[in-house]
Amino acid sequence: MSDILICEVGPRDGLQNAKHLMPTDAKKRWITALAAAGLREIEVGSFVPAKLIPAMADTGEIVAHARAIPGVKTVALAPNVKGFERALEAGAHKITFPVSASRKHSESNVRMTPEQMVEQVRQCCAIRDALPADRRVEIEAGVATAFGCTLQGVVPEDEVVRLAGALAAAGADAIALADTVGYANPSQVRRLFGRVRAEVGDKLEGAHFHNTRGLGLANAFAAYEQGVRAFDSSMGGLGGCTFAPGASGNVITEDLVFMFEAMGVSTGIDFEKLILARGILTGAIPDEPVYGHTPNAGLPKNFRKAA
Ligand code: COA
Ligand code: ZN
Repeated sequence: MSDILICEVGPRDGLQNAKHLMPTDAKKRWITALAAAGLREIEVGSFVPAKLIPAMADTGEIVAHARAIPGVKTVALAPNVKGFERALEAGAHKITFPVSASRKHSESNVRMTPEQMVEQVRQCCAIRDALPADRRVEIEAGVATAFGCTLQGVVPEDEVVRLAGALAAAGADAIALADTVGYANPSQVRRLFGRVRAEVGDKLEGAHFHNTRGLGLANAFAAYEQGVRAFDSSMGGLGGCTFAPGASGNVITEDLVFMFEAMGVSTGIDFEKLILARGILTGAIPDEPVYGHTPNAGLPKNFRKAA
């Protein structure tokens, strides 16, 4: 087992916001290569109306492909009960809900208030509880815009803590905090993760950072120091939110892997194989900008993988 878990969200968070559509076959090859590099959790798509986000129209087929790869937890995003039911039918192992702490972002993103989203999560948890044991899925609620919002500005920390508590009480298995628009700084990350952990305990799992102001790695490190062991990131730093103006890419998987491995914190991911997966991504959508310091510079000569 590795010391931390990295969930690759490029196929969902990345591709939903990319200017170029990745063909279904290329998505499958990319996901297979990510798994071969050691990614054990991959958010492969979302169950949203295809009219709204055409890049996610093939998510059912992509989930079926990913869940057949041994050792990969297949994650899909759902914004409501209908999306949850579609994700269940496709066979996702884990389903994640975007629940914005910013009222304005919530209304823009899912056309519901945060309270209405909590109600959707509660209904999905009831459906989950009625499933036979061998079909049980994990439900994660990601508190979006937890560190600030381009539409609303300030998002009060009390509101984030209250929402996380309501989601845990609604039955979510796991809570994540997401910096959807790249406003977070390391002090704020340390403080807010601490406060939410005091509220929901071990249900607090994931950290989802965007790199809009270059603080993605610093924020990931601050979360690590605060005890977080599950991180979302995106290959090549793809990503963003169509419904949050100014949101740009996620923290870059390749650089996150380098940082943790160099620190002696094992990720279970092989850097060279990660670069092979990056080749599939850039080959499939060559005109899409991709980022990454370590992929450009190469590994240092004194680099040693964490044991
Ligand atoms: N998948 C497919 N179709 C769906 C759906 C889903 N998850 N949810 C609703 N629909 C369909 C409805 O059946 C209805 O179809 P009809 O017009 O043929 O009757 C139509 O979409 C409208 O349904 P409604 O419930 O009124 O949805 P809405 O238009 O208010 O949109 C959401 C609400 C949540 C579906 C939409 O805002 C959404 O998908 N947001 C997610 C955006 C996102 O992925 N953001 C990035 C994540 S941070
Ligand atoms: Zn995101």
